[in-house]
Amino acid sequence: MNQIGIAIVGCGGVTLQNHLPGLALCPDAKVVALCDSDAGCLERARQQTGITIASTKYEEIVSRDDVHAVIIATPNFTHPPIALAAIARGKHVLCEKPLALNYANAKEMADAADKAGVRHMTAFTYRFVPAMRYLSELVRRGDLGQLYHYRSCRLQDWGTRNLGWRQVKKLAGTGELGDMLSHRIDFAHLLVGPMRRLVANTKIVHDQRQGAPSDLDDWVAIIAEFQNGASGVLESSKLASGRNESWRSLDYVEINGSERSCVFITGEWNKLQTGKVGGPGLETITIPEEFWKWPGSPRDPRVGDPLVTFRYDQAWEFVDAIRNQRPCRPSFHDGARAQAAMDAAVKSAAEKTWVEVQG
Ligand SMILES: NC(=O)c1ccc[n+]([C@@H]2O[C@H](COP(=O)([O-])OP(=O)(O)OC[C@H]3O[C@@H](n4cnc5c(N)ncnc54)[C@H](O)[C@@H]3O)[C@@H](O)[C@H]2O)c1
Repeated sequence: MNQIGIAIVGCGGVTLQNHLPGLALCPDAKVVALCDSDAGCLERARQQTGITIASTKYEEIVSRDDVHAVIIATPNFTHPPIALAAIARGKHVLCEKPLALNYANAKEMADAADKAGVRHMTAFTYRFVPAMRYLSELVRRGDLGQLYHYRSCRLQDWGTRNLGWRQVKKLAGTGELGDMLSHRIDFAHLLVGPMRRLVANTKIVHDQRQGAPSDLDDWVAIIAEFQNGASGVLESSKLASGRNESWRSLDYVEINGSERSCVFITGEWNKLQTGKVGGPGLETITIPEEFWKWPGSPRDPRVGDPLVTFRYDQAWEFVDAIRNQRPCRPSFHDGARAQAAMDAAVKSAAEKTWVEVQG
């Protein structure tokens, strides 16, 4: 395999924003085939990329011999069947988050990929923000001491606009929980470790969005206990009016440990705020330059808007893991672990009680 042939299934928003530009920076990889169930969308993608092999049926695309790896960027309910079909054909898979609509399906995907010996990766894109990688390194080497608290807050202003498949339970599974909080659950797992149990609440504020029914949460909050004894508070909302809808809106993570606290804000891609126990308060530090991009990535962090371009390192990680036959970070197991916490949150909100997290 001189060049890794990639097929993209789902040619909508995230493919145009993250996957195609990321792959364009990987000399080892070439997008050889496209799939979208919407013929118009597929034709637009075909014209934009010049890729001639295209189909509205993923089965035709994932079975091709020139396709070595598949990127799945479709609505959530389609992830398991497409991933399992690709894995059955021996293809490596990068799948968008949330991996599935429940933990059982996500675990089935992870186990099937392990058994087939293919590379598997969950698109928890915000792990690739340089400051998050540096923060996880500080935690790993013990700079924060014993971890006491994890806190995350994601606040966006999506108003009452129609969200398409994202507002339909049977297509998306959950609303704000899977869409936005899943990334921050993954941060918590990366930084603190697995959750033991949690209690959650969700709220559907708008049950109609521009005349179409919406049966999914606009707001979610979780209080968590981690297996290592740390506590967590996570909140995410689509209805923080005036905060803007884009990634420039608030995405805040704070960790308090026995030695120091650190604050990560996605918008401050190469900075952290930090303060020592007993000190005068937080100061802002610039992270070391070696963390400004993913290890080995050919991306120049000084080119383009760094709040956009960090996402391209995700494709590099996938391609590099295939080339070097090593596990991807984050894997399907990380996706399944987040799904277990999401399942627990749904159950907790429905039953108004603490729920043990599976997995
Ligand atoms: N990692 C991130 O930062 C991030 C950002 C945005 C979206 N996402 C995830 O990416 C996925 C797609 O989101 P999006 O915003 O691109 O949605 P989108 O609606 O813009 O695009 C999805 C595309 O998939 C196509 N599609 C639907 N069913 C299909 C099928 N069975 N086979 C082939 N194509 C099919 C649709 O026609 C559409 O073009 C979701 O799981 C979402 O949660 C992740």
